[in-house]
Amino acid sequence: MSVIPAAPPRLSDFGQRARLPAVAKLMKSALETPGLLSVAAGFTDNSTLPVAEFVAAAQALAARPGEPEFLQYGTTQGRPKLRQILADRLRHWEPTLNETDLDRRFMVTNGSQQALYVAVQSLCNPGDIVLVDRPSYFAFLDIVTSLGARPVSLPYDADGRLQIPELESLLAQLKRSGEIARVKAVYLVSYFSNPTGRCLSESDKAALGRTLAAHDVIVPLLEDVAYRELFYDEPHPARSALTLREWDVFPRMYFATLTKPFSTGAKIGYAYCTDEKWLAQMLAIKGTQDFGTSNYAQALFEEILGNGGFETHIPKVRRGYKAKMLALHEALLAGGLRDLGWQWEVPGGGMYLWLRAPAGIDTGMDGEFCRACVQSGVLYVPGDLCFGDRPETNWIRASYGVLSPDQLREAGQRFAAVAHRFAR
Ligand SMILES: Cc1ncc(COP(=O)(O)O)c(C=O)c1O
Repeated sequence: MSVIPAAPPRLSDFGQRARLPAVAKLMKSALETPGLLSVAAGFTDNSTLPVAEFVAAAQALAARPGEPEFLQYGTTQGRPKLRQILADRLRHWEPTLNETDLDRRFMVTNGSQQALYVAVQSLCNPGDIVLVDRPSYFAFLDIVTSLGARPVSLPYDADGRLQIPELESLLAQLKRSGEIARVKAVYLVSYFSNPTGRCLSESDKAALGRTLAAHDVIVPLLEDVAYRELFYDEPHPARSALTLREWDVFPRMYFATLTKPFSTGAKIGYAYCTDEKWLAQMLAIKGTQDFGTSNYAQALFEEILGNGGFETHIPKVRRGYKAKMLALHEALLAGGLRDLGWQWEVPGGGMYLWLRAPAGIDTGMDGEFCRACVQSGVLYVPGDLCFGDRPETNWIRASYGVLSPDQLREAGQRFAAVAHRFAR
């Protein structure tokens, strides 16, 4: 009997445009290569995952009298008590936030990645533009491009300072080309950024708002603070755009997460939105996607945040990342990378070193340097993936999230050995 092959489905434009993110390819090769040490994916530290806190929270929930509502569906917006706790935490970070009923403006999501996706989906049509940091968080750039929109880089200098005259020229050029109306949002990773580990100063953040307003580009600001709580010694002092006068006229959304500083596996993120109607539309989109983030995971966080478990645990996480950052940094120094012309800064928080290669080395995924690193058992994120436009191929993002200090030292040595082979 002959088998008639099934006809392939006819995919939508969106379905056809979708590409597996480049980083997924990297992660696959990490899993398939035994012994490979990966500083590529932004996985978090296994040794400080809060197992005891989750056990205690699960027991407390199980012991609650009444029906186990936490194992039932919840609401799209998120559990009211958790939103109230998150609102109180936001007040801690932004004490001058002048709003009542903050909790009504929160959305609890499946990681902050979902909130970012829903926000861009609610704002951008194909062909629209999102202004982004240079470099920026590559999985956000993937959201923008997968929706058919286009990231355009804001101008920064080599020290990570925003360049206002160049920003003025960029806005003037977008006006001349008739594209200014296509700018639909601005996206900033303003604390211990992915990939650079840098923070945006309050004066630069204010200047950005002032300049956009002066050019009548009053579009929503998406401020991603994923690493704000992951400082090593001191929090970064800049206020968020939520409380900066220069941003008052802009709709703003503040994206935070409980994954990076606490537990990636529990996958709870949240966002605060200054505009009620916009929030309602995003909730409508989220509702069609999932009609609610895991109610159980949210209930666990109510316990953990409510009983102080989060606050007592997070200093351990901060100490752990600082030690790991230093392990990698010192291994690279000891490997003589600086003498070969490699450059990087020592971040004050977050999970990444951002390394600049000396002239002549192409760090791209298909280049010889990247291949040699994989053959030598170390995998990194090629920096070109982190540029919204005009990619630069002489950068590397190295995450010290998941490897142990000993593994990071080994990864640093392997990397340095390859760098020496490629030195001129
Ligand atoms: C800057 C930034 N924002 C958002 C996210 C998304 O994290 P999650 O969905 O786990 O909250 C990440 C993850 O790496 C990130 O680096």
